Amino acid sequence: SAIPVIAIDGPSASGKGTVAARVAASLAWHYLDSGALYRLTALAALQRGLALDDEPALAALAAKLDVAFLEGMILLDGEDATETIRAEAIGEGASRVAVLPTVRTALLQRQRDFAHAPGLVADGRDMGSVVFPHAPLKIFLTASAEERANRRYKQLIAKGEKITLSQILQDIEQRDARDRARSVAPLQQLPDALLLDTTRLSIEQSVQFVLDHWRAVS
Ligand code: C5P
Repeated sequence: SAIPVIAIDGPSASGKGTVAARVAASLAWHYLDSGALYRLTALAALQRGLALDDEPALAALAAKLDVAFLEGMILLDGEDATETIRAEAIGEGASRVAVLPTVRTALLQRQRDFAHAPGLVADGRDMGSVVFPHAPLKIFLTASAEERANRRYKQLIAKGEKITLSQILQDIEQRDARDRARSVAPLQQLPDALLLDTTRLSIEQSVQFVLDHWRAVS
């Protein structure tokens, strides 16, 4: 399509969601948090007592998922799920349903429907490879596993979750391994994606990197 897309992919807890949302705000573009769709699918499945490897049931669920993205708020079946889907257990569930090819297919058009003028910033694992392969700017945003664990730890502790740093590091490494190893839409740095290693960068510096490169290609 003619709508410009900035595709930001990377591993969990890299900060790509924060950076993508700020780039979108700065350009006054739309924003897609694709991971939220996998998290919502996992949450809906758990609420319905579905097994997270029941592919036909999960694909049917994903296809008719009743979700709404409002101003900073995410609704599932009309109820506020903004905070619920950020739980570690839901992230873990999301990465399990995300290996299922027919679940991914069921969510594909819903993601593409976010592309509206004047543009879209989309973050996830396969924005540049599968969902928006023609995106004029693709970024692979990462940070060391230790730094990502630290960032996630601070977030979760602030929310009152009881979890240790080593547990988070283990979760993150397990999730990355699953996201990289799956046969459909694996997490990978594409040849045409720019590497943005944020280990030693602030959020502002990371946002600036993306904006500078967007100016250079547009
Ligand atoms: O980005 P976030 O941590 O919210 O994503 C949760 C999980 O959803 C990821 O670990 C990944 O398995 C899956 N996901 C995906 N493709 C995307 C976005 C997320 O497979 N585009």
